[in-house]
Amino acid sequence: MSRTIQMTVNGVQQEVTIKPRVTLLEVLRDHLHLTGTKLGCDQEVCGACTVLLDDLPVSSCSVLGLDADGCQVQTIEGLASNGDLHPIQQAFIDKGAFQCAFCTPGMIMAVKALQDQLSDPSEERIRHFLAGNICRCGCHMEILEVVRSLYSA
Ligand code: FES
Ligand code: FES
Repeated sequence: MSRTIQMTVNGVQQEVTIKPRVTLLEVLRDHLHLTGTKLGCDQEVCGACTVLLDDLPVSSCSVLGLDADGCQVQTIEGLASNGDLHPIQQAFIDKGAFQCAFCTPGMIMAVKALQDQLSDPSEERIRHFLAGNICRCGCHMEILEVVRSLYSA
């Protein structure tokens, strides 16, 4: 049986009617057409589907849409403002921290959560925080450079 849920996505109130097994990722991509968030492993392993749910990073492939009812969701589409990239997005470009860019939206949302939560993280904390986001192109060193540059700015 379908149910109607409401959530605020990137500051915009949304209402969707979904079946109980539909994931938050499917709500975003298939119902709201926000395809920046990627489907990788579909098993809560790769982090490609990372979004912020009430300010906490989650693997949206592993969260039911029904469990996001009434929540705030932030996706990669919500970061740029008035045509200007978010500083994290710009830093990824400046440091060349991607190749195919499939992991990049999820990685950027994880870095956003890191910045929101920790004011002066150690290298170890940064690595631990980002451990759930995998870059198959092997850009992890450049991504670490991005994070260091954001904290030293
Ligand atoms: S697609 Fe969700 S963690 Fe990989
Ligand atoms: S840039 Fe290709 S998976 Fe990360």
